[in-house]
Amino acid sequence: MSQQPLPTRPSVLISAAMSLDGHIDDASPERLLLSSAEDFDRVDGLRAESDAILVGAGTLRADDPRLEVRDPARRAAREARGLPAHPLKVALAGSGGLSADLRLWQSGGAKLVLAPDAAVRGLREQLRAAAEVVGTGPELDPARVLDELAARGVRRLMIEGGGAIQTLFLTAGLVDEIQLAVAPFFVGDAGAPRFAPPGASPFPQDAAHRMTLLGAEVLGDLTVLRYGARRSDASRVTQTDVDWMRAAIALSRECPRSETAYSVGAVIVGADGVELARGFSREGGDDKVHAEESALAKLDPADPRLRTATIYSTLEPCSVRASRPSPCAELIRSAGIGRVVLAWREPALFVADCQGVELLEAAGATVLELPGLAAEARVVNSHLVK
Ligand SMILES: NC(=O)c1ccc[n+]([C@@H]2O[C@H](COP(=O)([O-])OP(=O)(O)OC[C@H]3O[C@@H](n4cnc5c(N)ncnc54)[C@H](OP(=O)(O)O)[C@@H]3O)[C@@H](O)[C@H]2O)c1
Ligand SMILES: [Zn+2]
Repeated sequence: MSQQPLPTRPSVLISAAMSLDGHIDDASPERLLLSSAEDFDRVDGLRAESDAILVGAGTLRADDPRLEVRDPARRAAREARGLPAHPLKVALAGSGGLSADLRLWQSGGAKLVLAPDAAVRGLREQLRAAAEVVGTGPELDPARVLDELAARGVRRLMIEGGGAIQTLFLTAGLVDEIQLAVAPFFVGDAGAPRFAPPGASPFPQDAAHRMTLLGAEVLGDLTVLRYGARRSDASRVTQTDVDWMRAAIALSRECPRSETAYSVGAVIVGADGVELARGFSREGGDDKVHAEESALAKLDPADPRLRTATIYSTLEPCSVRASRPSPCAELIRSAGIGRVVLAWREPALFVADCQGVELLEAAGATVLELPGLAAEARVVNSHLVK
């Protein structure tokens, strides 16, 4: 049986607003206004860029949100790109039930409810035609949620709360970015809901899980903090990885031919899926430059996006170099790139035994090989390897 390509799990953005003392609501039945008109507009822009918006049942019961793209120009721009006007609206529910009268079901966009199998029947009876209800197995497993959304073509997921759902995804290591608007007042009530409250699983505490500050923006009297996170499913090869490796292989064909060195392509891609830089061997007429080195040289070493980036290299990064002070594996390590994907291991031809993978793994990076693409990466070097 031929192997199906894995559907790519979506990138995950948590968007939330909190008070200075970390509360996302107060304890009263009315919804606490934490955001401003300007900030709502920013969030509306994020919604418009997402394929799906997800909230928990607690938020639906407390706030009864519509989760629509409000700006007609943004809806029109989505439609011009061939997308539905509103992203898919996803609710995560447990056993507490959901009313068929919620505004979410009455408003625009496709609706999907994901719940543990045991809750599915009850939810279908309550919601009838208002939303599709799908089981995620015995538990509400966030990885299964992402796989289910991936199978429906969701590439960018925005999570809009509430606290339990934030914690569910954060503790599972499945979040790429947090955008947190901080409002300049205190709630001062221990009973009020808080941002990412302690949950069933602990938050990752190791150094690799320290967030990267991506930006801080002042919006009136609010501050919007943006953090990049390292996903713990980084060890999963996705179809996106295969696509980027093919781009790196195409790049390797642009290398000036050499009888004494390999032709390699390298692409550095940020956690949001946006390319940061690319390079190839002997680029720009420098017959000593390596692909990874050339790509890295195009970025500021302090660029915070590097810490959550992936580098794709058609060949294992070198661990020894005569012509430069640092081999590529060392350059990748010092740039803080934690995820390295390669297609082909260096054959012992110019260097006795390349230790690039070992060096990177010892430094804590996740190194993945795509052996299925090794032959493609090798073609351009076939005159060197007998
Ligand atoms: N300021 C903001 O940015 C913001 C954004 C959104 C929400 N909020 C606030 O957040 C509060 C709601 O947060 P919340 O934590 O109560 O609710 P929530 O995170 O929206 O939803 C939690 C619900 O999801 C289900 N669930 C979560 N984990 C589960 C698991 N492991 N297994 C099975 N089901 C699970 C349960 O549904 P069942 O109850 O059906 O079992 C649970 O009650 C509200 O006060 C709202 O105003 C604030
Ligand atoms: Zn190198």
